[in-house]
Amino acid sequence: MCRYLLLFSLLIFTWSPSPVTANPETNLLNFGCSQYNVSDPGVFLANLNASYADLRAVISNSSSSSFATAQRPRAYNPVYALFQCRPYLSQADCLACLAAAEVRLRNCSAANGGRVIFDGCFLRYESAPFFHQDTVPGNVGICSGRTDLAAAAFTAAAERLVRDLATATPRIPGFFVGAERGGVYGVAQCVETVYERECSRCLQVALGNIQGCPPDSDGRAVDAGCFLRYSNDAFFPPNESVNLAPFLDSGDQTLKDYSFPIIYRRFLLIACAKRLGKDWKSHPHAFFHLDAFP
Ligand SMILES: *[C@@H]1O[C@H](CO)[C@@H](O)[C@H](O)[C@H]1NC(C)=O
Ligand SMILES: *[C@@H]1O[C@H](CO)[C@@H](O)[C@H](O)[C@H]1NC(C)=O
Ligand SMILES: *[C@@H]1O[C@H](CO)[C@@H](O)[C@H](O)[C@H]1NC(C)=O
Ligand SMILES: *[C@@H]1O[C@H](CO)[C@@H](O)[C@H](O)[C@H]1NC(C)=O
Ligand SMILES: *[C@@H]1O[C@H](CO)[C@@H](O)[C@H](O)[C@H]1NC(C)=O
Repeated sequence: MCRYLLLFSLLIFTWSPSPVTANPETNLLNFGCSQYNVSDPGVFLANLNASYADLRAVISNSSSSSFATAQRPRAYNPVYALFQCRPYLSQADCLACLAAAEVRLRNCSAANGGRVIFDGCFLRYESAPFFHQDTVPGNVGICSGRTDLAAAAFTAAAERLVRDLATATPRIPGFFVGAERGGVYGVAQCVETVYERECSRCLQVALGNIQGCPPDSDGRAVDAGCFLRYSNDAFFPPNESVNLAPFLDSGDQTLKDYSFPIIYRRFLLIACAKRLGKDWKSHPHAFFHLDAFP
């Protein structure tokens, strides 16, 4: 299986960009490059380009794909790359967001790691495995600073919504949910390569980071493994709003809610990364340390 995944990651795919994009949501939330350079930039950048092509291929393949990883673990100057869209984006918008993220990461030139987080998507690459990371130093909340609302009711509704999103999302297949309640719109998402417990841990940190934002009209929290956002704007389509109640009951029946393929895929990825990665534990640099939010 691992050999199959490896082979798969060596295939080169082509892609033609879509000329029409409605809203790829490329409002920048977080950007940074590692301070360490790779030993052979020519080889590394070729591996990185090919990994981006693999990510594009997965997202292009199916209109419901919003998550992909690519890796060249055995290559000289190895590359690991992870990409995630908010699932309410159209496929064209998701691909446009990926393209914008790639352009942004070219500024990292020869650095051995880089990440960019937009409202609409998240792209990260490293020279060592990181797909399992949930919360890391540098996680941060981003408040809009705009407060044009009837504060008390909005604050209470926003606080309740982000708390419920953080509780529900780890229990939901695909680790994404959007909900609207009392005029507050919110989404939460984890990367699909972590387990339920790690998703939950990451979102609890995100919750702590976003809790000071209300009554600001918008708040976000970003981390290596998760994303949390609320707004008074309807920033996702109404049909993406889910009733969270069934996912909020305490209980141990949450595991049966996972569809088999998702948990299987997650297991596979992690097992392969463990087998193929040489440096699973000791990552040479912290993820969000290098640049503050602009
Ligand atoms: C890394 O490479 C870039 C561009 O090639 C260079 O400007 C920078 O000084 C290098 N950084 C280190 C720490 O060597
Ligand atoms: C990687 O892709 C970028 C953009 O398409 C290109 O400018 C660059 O030359 C490529 N680098 C390598 C090493 O292939
Ligand atoms: C595209 O989807 C098909 C069917 O779901 C799958 O068999 C194939 O591996 C996918 N290819 C890529 C590049 O993801
Ligand atoms: C890349 O860096 C240059 C110079 O440091 C800067 O002028 C430019 O705006 C940056 N581009 C992106 C996409 O970050
Ligand atoms: C919402 O509607 C859009 C467009 O009609 C559709 O593509 C999407 O799958 C729907 N989402 C859900 C969660 O039903």
